[in-house]
Amino acid sequence: MQKFTFDKITNHLTTSGFVYPGSDIYGGLANSWDFGPLGTLLKNHIKTAFRDHFVRKNKNIVEIEPAIIMNTKVWETTGHVSNFHDPLIDCKNCHSRFRADELINSKDKDICCDGKSNEELSELIKTLDIACPECGKKDFTSIRQFQMMFKTFMGVTEEKSNIVYLRPETAQGIFVNFKNVMRSQRMKLPFGICDIGKAFRNEITPGNYIFRTREFEQMEIEFFYSPKDSFNYFNFFKEDCLKFLDELGLKKENLRYRDHAKEELAFYSEATTDIEYLYPFGWGELMGIASRTDYDLSRHGESSKEDLKYLDQETNEKFYPYVIEPSFGVERLMLAILCDSYDEEQLENDTRIVMHLNPKLAPYQVAVLPLSKQLAEEGEEVLSIINRRFDSVYDVTGSIGKRYRREDAIGTPFCVTIDFDTKEDKCVTVRERDSMKQERVKISSLCEYIQNKIESME
Ligand code: GLY
Repeated sequence: MQKFTFDKITNHLTTSGFVYPGSDIYGGLANSWDFGPLGTLLKNHIKTAFRDHFVRKNKNIVEIEPAIIMNTKVWETTGHVSNFHDPLIDCKNCHSRFRADELINSKDKDICCDGKSNEELSELIKTLDIACPECGKKDFTSIRQFQMMFKTFMGVTEEKSNIVYLRPETAQGIFVNFKNVMRSQRMKLPFGICDIGKAFRNEITPGNYIFRTREFEQMEIEFFYSPKDSFNYFNFFKEDCLKFLDELGLKKENLRYRDHAKEELAFYSEATTDIEYLYPFGWGELMGIASRTDYDLSRHGESSKEDLKYLDQETNEKFYPYVIEPSFGVERLMLAILCDSYDEEQLENDTRIVMHLNPKLAPYQVAVLPLSKQLAEEGEEVLSIINRRFDSVYDVTGSIGKRYRREDAIGTPFCVTIDFDTKEDKCVTVRERDSMKQERVKISSLCEYIQNKIESME
């Protein structure tokens, strides 16, 4: 069980500037969210940490940025046009709309709905005597498959030949560029290609704040290897992804592996393991590691008539590489990090909200706080030294106690206070978020001091 309710945490995130309801001044847009200054910084830091761990420190993984709108043949070839569906069912009485599998699992979570036909799902709804969660009536429409890809038109006419889709996964931008990257960068197996960017899914039942949204950001790697290579890359990435989450500071007890049963595997996957996080609303998928074999490359090779095989220079053999895919959702990871770090601490005369964020993820590493407006000159000087190295915020409003609380509540690990002695001794007071300990530090060694502290906290 998580200590704090989801409502409590999400209210805090919205009021403090991490996440805002999308299109708010027009009454919002269902399940659409905008990221405020703090959320944007946190997302950027998550992506930097991902790049650092998986790309920068691996000489055989490179990053690319493919287009979001791709040739429709891509999605016809992969099977997304014909297979990327959810079973949709409506209540005839109140017209509420549901995913049939979710309706069944809300009554019996152990039933596996994947692979079942529409008729089998309808039969289960009857057998389990399921009522509409909204109005309580038991009168549903038949189930129909709902295409989850967003469809639009490219060009001036809205005709079938101009249909394009917003990508439902970043992965395909990698597969269609496999040959470009391999040739231009002289990559030898095993090697990986990473893509970080937006993906879109017209989910029937989005929800749980930023957990399931129709527009989201993915961080995916397709790691290519020879099917004859005996190294177990699937297990390697399972362990490495958990290590990455551990490095970010997520508590071990809130993470677990979950292997997909055969019936629930995505149509492109031979094996999948999710890493789940214990969100305040229960265990949910945080990321997944899938073994996609040569499913995508061989299909694209055959469909495009391009030679997407790999030539092993030593053996002269040509083959389609196999693929392991670690796939993260940025917002899901962000939500896990925020829930994991949220705390309310009872102090002697006070309670403080504090987010124990890893300093490299915190929106601001440093807050610069001149005690008085008369110290603006010194404050600006310290800020200009700090903001060359760290993300920082400058705050002169309210009592120093209130300003410390504000920074604790958004996870700022260090507050730098400038007082009247600073004019004389060229020192500032550095207060640390978690211990609340304070230390006097020379301005000339401030950046080094903070850097060393950050490294010791990681
Ligand atoms: N590429 C896997 C996924 O989007 O879930």
